[in-house]
Amino acid sequence: MLKKSQKLINLDNIKDTIKLGKELSKLVNFCNIFCIKGQLGTGKTTLARGFISNLTGIKNVLSPTFPMLLTYEKGKHYVCHYDLYRLKKHDDVWNINIEDSLNSAIVIIEWPEIVENILPENRITITLRDKDNNSRTATIEGNEKLLNLI
Ligand SMILES: Nc1ncnc2c1ncn2[C@@H]1O[C@H](COP(=O)(O)OP(=O)(O)OP(=O)(O)O)[C@@H](O)[C@H]1O
Ligand SMILES: [Mg+2]
Repeated sequence: MLKKSQKLINLDNIKDTIKLGKELSKLVNFCNIFCIKGQLGTGKTTLARGFISNLTGIKNVLSPTFPMLLTYEKGKHYVCHYDLYRLKKHDDVWNINIEDSLNSAIVIIEWPEIVENILPENRITITLRDKDNNSRTATIEGNEKLLNLI
């Protein structure tokens, strides 16, 4: 049984969001599923960009809004970056091969709500929210031991 915990972090600017993504990418040896929640434009893709760039060295990380999935491969790391905003019916989940990815890849999911019921318990969920002065907050939920590493 995993002991769950929460951590609240202020993200005063884009650099802070990128830096948090970078920190989270250091957890890939312990956890391979990262859900990023938050309303439109709260910085989900920016966070994923920091994560993927740090892990793979690839700087050109685009939003997967239209393809729904973009993948990145470098060395031993294979990253699947999903954006499920456009996935309206739960049945459509079977068309995007997410179950295979969960077993074999590092998976980052923006708008994960529609697939949460099929995700394993060992995952990290980051919720981004708007704060005053055009800054954001991040609430990170997951295994207590992992959260203590960031
Ligand atoms: N901590 C922050 N403070 C202020 N602005 C930020 C912060 N983090 C990201 N942004 C900015 O917010 C805007 C939206 O970012 P991004 O595209 O990453 O959001 P998103 O949540 O992925 O949007 P969508 O819901 O459309 O996928 C960008 O202009 C980005 O630079
Ligand atoms: Mg996005």
